[in-house]
Amino acid sequence: MSPDPAHRIVVAPSLLAADFARLGEEVRAVEAAGADWLHLDVMDGHFVPNITIGPAVVKALRPHSRLPFDAHLMIAPADPYLAAFAEAGCDHISIHPESGPHLHRSLQAIRALGCKAGVVLNPSTPVEAVSWVLDLCDIVMVMTVNPGFGGQAFLDGQLAKIAALRAAIDATGRRVALQVDGGVNAATARQVIAAGADTLVAGTAVFGAPDYAAAIAALHHAGEAA
Ligand code: DX5
Ligand code: ZN
Repeated sequence: MSPDPAHRIVVAPSLLAADFARLGEEVRAVEAAGADWLHLDVMDGHFVPNITIGPAVVKALRPHSRLPFDAHLMIAPADPYLAAFAEAGCDHISIHPESGPHLHRSLQAIRALGCKAGVVLNPSTPVEAVSWVLDLCDIVMVMTVNPGFGGQAFLDGQLAKIAALRAAIDATGRRVALQVDGGVNAATARQVIAAGADTLVAGTAVFGAPDYAAAIAALHHAGEAA
């Protein structure tokens, strides 16, 4: 029996693990391979110890895909750049609570730009950092690695946080994506889905695989009984 489409796992390949010399081609390839969203990791060398892409690259990629562009801002401050990412073509903008002093205001600003708003929790950031602003969230994302790099090992100590957020989101009665980012592969995906996640970011597990479609399908089906 095919899964209820309303409860299908969303797979968001992270472009961080793509071939940066062929970004347009890579974006088209994961869309053709069944990706649901395209995850874009924005790093400033300050909030995290790595530097990646800015709005100019997002804008250049926009004509290459119809997928929702899911921006993960690992920059501080984030507020001065929200409009630039929205104008470049991001559909979702997720920020870390530590990136600015007024999380509630930042989420309002993202929504006012016409984007879906998300909050991302570092491994050391507690559930309470987002629970008070859940009514302004379309996405809550749990980092299962320390942000900054792809290819790191999954931190299973975050599973309890995912379960706690599942309960908090369910209590709202609203639809909020519960996304997990870092070290997600078919095996760890099974664990995070069991804990309550519905949206998977995967860099290495997709772009490092010989067959993108098979890798994405494995993530889509990771939560199903063997
Ligand atoms: C890390 C990024 C992730 C990263 C995940 O800071 O937020 O999105 O690309 O890469 P993998 O899936 O390789 O752990
Ligand atoms: Zn990310």
